[in-house]
Amino acid sequence: MTGIERVHVPLGDRAYDVVIGQGLLAQAGALVGPLLHRKQAAILTETRVAGLHLPALQAGLAASGIAAQSHALAPGEATKGWAGLSEAVEWLLDAKVERRDIVIALGGGVIGDLAGFAAAILRRGVRFVQVPSSLLAQVDSSVGGKTGINTRHGKNLVGAFHQPSLVLADIDLLDSLPARDFLAGYGEVVKYGLLGDAAFFEWLERNAPAMAHGDKALRQYAVRRSVEMKAGIVARDETEQGERALLNLGHTFCHALEAATGYSDRLLHGEGVAIGCALAFELSARMGLCAQETPSRVRAHLKRMGMATDLRDIPGELPGRDALIDLMGQDKKVQDGRLRFILARGVGDAFVCDDVPGGLLQAVLDDALAERR
Ligand code: GLY
Repeated sequence: MTGIERVHVPLGDRAYDVVIGQGLLAQAGALVGPLLHRKQAAILTETRVAGLHLPALQAGLAASGIAAQSHALAPGEATKGWAGLSEAVEWLLDAKVERRDIVIALGGGVIGDLAGFAAAILRRGVRFVQVPSSLLAQVDSSVGGKTGINTRHGKNLVGAFHQPSLVLADIDLLDSLPARDFLAGYGEVVKYGLLGDAAFFEWLERNAPAMAHGDKALRQYAVRRSVEMKAGIVARDETEQGERALLNLGHTFCHALEAATGYSDRLLHGEGVAIGCALAFELSARMGLCAQETPSRVRAHLKRMGMATDLRDIPGELPGRDALIDLMGQDKKVQDGRLRFILARGVGDAFVCDDVPGGLLQAVLDDALAERR
C-alpha cells in the first residue's frame, strides 16, 4: 500500500492541499476537522455516489465527532444547471449552513462544480472541501477552483473561481468506477503528459494498461503527477490569463463534439478530450509544428488503452465540417471572434495558438469525417 501524499496548491491565503491515497474516507474527520469551527458539515452528493460512498464518508467524519447532514441530487450532467443549483443552495440554507461552515462535495465533476459554485454564492461565499469520486474529478475538476453550471447557451457558462479548502482524492473510490468512466478520466491524465511532461507520457505508455487494470500504486502515481502539474499551472495562472489555457488541450475539438452529440452518453467529456488531443496533434503536424509521426504515437497509445481516438468511434450521426467549426465558435475560448487551439511542437510541448489557418482546420476535419464513411 502506498502512503498518503500531499500536493500543495500555493495560492497565498487561498492555498490548500490535495491529499492523495487509499482509505481517506475513513480518515475524513481527522483531515477535515482542523478546518471546522464547529463539529458539523454539510455534504452535497448524488444518489449513485451516495449509495457507494456516503456511509463511509459520514462514518469517517463521525469518528472525529463530526455530524454531517447530506443531500443527494440526481446523477448526470443535467443536474449541473439552474434547477440543480437552486436545489443545492436551498438545501444548504435549510440545513442552516453558516458562513464559517464547510460544504463537502462528494462526487464526480458535476457535483464538484455545482457544489463548489453553490458554496461560492451561499452567504456570499463559504468554504468547501472536494471529495472527488471519479478519475476525471481527482486529476482535473476538483483542483483549481473552477466552479459553475451549464445554461441553455452551453457548458460552464455561469460560474466563479472559488478554490476548495482541501481536496481528498481517495484512490480506493476509483474501484467502483465503470471501466468506461475510468477510461474517460484517463483522457485528462494523458492530456497532462501531452501538454507538458514527455517523461510522464512515456511512463503512461509503459504503465497505463496495468493502471487501468487496477494497480493502486500506479493509479496513485498517475493521480499525483497529474495533480502536481495542475497545481503548478494553477499557482502560476489561477484565472487563466495565460498558461492555464494549456489545460484545454483537445478541448476546442471536444466541446464542439460534445455539443454535436447533445452532451449525451454518446460521448463522455474525457472521451472527447482524447479524440480532441489526437486531432490537435494531427493539426499540429499538418502545420509543420511537430513531427509527422507524433499524431500516430498519440493515437496508438489511446487505442492500446481501448479509448476512442477518431470521429468514427463516436456512434451515430455527426454534423458536417462547417457545422463543427461553427460549434467551435461557441466555445468560451473564442477571443475577438478567433478560434483558440492548444497545439504542440511535440509530446510535452503544448502552446496556445490563435491563428490556425482555416484551410488546414477544414482539411483535418474533412479527413476525420471521411474516415467515418
Ligand atoms: N479543466 C481546466 C481547468 O481547470 O483550467
